Amino acid sequence: MKDLSNYRKSYEKSELLETDIPEDPINLFHKWFYETEEMSNIEEVNAMTVSTIGLDGFPKSRVVLLKKFNEEGFIFYTNYNSEKGKAILANPKVCLSFFWHSMERQIIIKGRAEKTNENISDNYFDSRPDGSKLGAIVSAQSEVIPSREFLDKKLKDLEQEFEGKEIPRPQHWGGFLVRPIEVEFWQGRANRLHDRIRYQLQEDYHWKIDRLSP
Ligand SMILES: Cc1cc2nc3c(=O)[nH]c(=O)nc-3n(C[C@H](O)[C@H](O)[C@H](O)COP(=O)(O)O)c2cc1C
Repeated sequence: MKDLSNYRKSYEKSELLETDIPEDPINLFHKWFYETEEMSNIEEVNAMTVSTIGLDGFPKSRVVLLKKFNEEGFIFYTNYNSEKGKAILANPKVCLSFFWHSMERQIIIKGRAEKTNENISDNYFDSRPDGSKLGAIVSAQSEVIPSREFLDKKLKDLEQEFEGKEIPRPQHWGGFLVRPIEVEFWQGRANRLHDRIRYQLQEDYHWKIDRLSP
C-alpha cells in the first residue's frame, strides 16, 4: 500500500475577500476563468467535472469541456443517450466543478441542466471538424461494443457515405445548459484556512453571498 500522508502543499498565491467580489457569480467565474487562461499554463482551462445522479441512484462524475458560458449558465455538448444524458433527462440536478491547480482555485456549481435549443446545438455541431462530426454519429456513447475494430470500421463506412456531403447533427447529440443555483469559489490559503465564498440564488433572483469555514 502506498502511504500519501506526506503529500502536503501550502496554498499562498492569492486571496478571495468580500471587498473584491461582484454581486453576480458569473462575473467572478468570468474573472477567474480569464485569469487562469492568461496567468497559468493549464492546457484545457475549460475542462470540468460533471456529476450526475444516475438511474441507479449513484452519483457519477466525468470530465467534459465547457463550450460556452454567459448570464444564463454553462453549456457543454454530449450524447443525450449516454449514461450522463439519460441521468440528466431523468434528474436535471447536476454539479459542475473546476480545479485549477496552478491558481490554487476550485469552483463548484450546482444547477439544473436542460437541453439547449436545436439552433445552438446545430451551430456548434456545424463548427466542428468533419472527423468529430462523424465521431458523434459513430459512437453510441456509453454502450458496450465488441471491439476497437467495430468503431474503426463504422467510421470508415461513414467517411465513404458522407464523402463530399454535409454531415447532419444526429438528434441524440447536442448541448446541455446548466442554469446555476449555487456557486462556490475556493481559493487556497496558508494553514488550510482557505477562502470559501458561496453564492446562492434567491427567489427574487438576487444572489445571497456567504463565507464558509474552510
Ligand atoms: C479532457 C476530456 C474532455 C472530454 N470532453 C467531453 C465532452 O465535451 N463531451 C462528452 O460527452 N464527453 C467528453 N469526455 C468524455 C467523458 O469524460 C465521458 O467519458 C463520456 O462523456 C461518457 O460519459 P458517460 O458514460 O458517463 O455518459 C471528455 C473526457 C476528457 C478526459
